[in-house]
Amino acid sequence: MDYTIETLIPREAVEKRIKELASEIERDYKGREVIVLGLLKGSVIFMSDLIKEIDIPLVIDFMSVSSYGNGTDSTGIVKILKDTDFDLKGREILIVEDIIDTGLTLKFMKDLIKGRGAKSVKCCAMLNKEARRNVDVDVDYYGSKVGNEFVVGYGLDFLNMYRNLPYVGVLKPEVIQKYVNK
Ligand code: IMP
Ligand code: MG
Repeated sequence: MDYTIETLIPREAVEKRIKELASEIERDYKGREVIVLGLLKGSVIFMSDLIKEIDIPLVIDFMSVSSYGNGTDSTGIVKILKDTDFDLKGREILIVEDIIDTGLTLKFMKDLIKGRGAKSVKCCAMLNKEARRNVDVDVDYYGSKVGNEFVVGYGLDFLNMYRNLPYVGVLKPEVIQKYVNK
């Protein structure tokens, strides 16, 4: 693993940023009851760190949607694989995502949740690949901007691997080429 991945954001930096995001969220949601809605599976590591730092009453829920095949490029098709346990009507929803890339998944999620009558919908993403955006959607809170490179770790995967890396790294292009048909 060591020679195929370069550290982009060390663990300490991710953890420090999570504390900052958590205090912003805590301040903004004080006195409100929020459902923190994680998108499986990429958000779980970031989300578990984040919610431990948010000192207000909250509940968590999860959805699983897929917009990706087994490669690195968005297909544009979003499918619900697992829905929420809670009814979102009238609730304040904070979506937690690993990374916002094209924005297709987040746009789909925000539209879906608004359509279900939520009182508010915001998103907190660990990473923001702003230059890749091809739909207009607000990323209300995010940890760091990243460039066009494919990142793994801290929940992010390549072919379901590397989610457990305790830092954000860049997978060398030759590793990706080996697996992705061109
Ligand atoms: P979007 O719909 O294009 O914004 O895609 C968002 C999803 O694509 C994220 O939740 C990730 O699962 C996946 N994704 C996008 N970029 C990366 C990356 O660099 N590494 C790992 N997963 C990524
Ligand atoms: Mg994802």
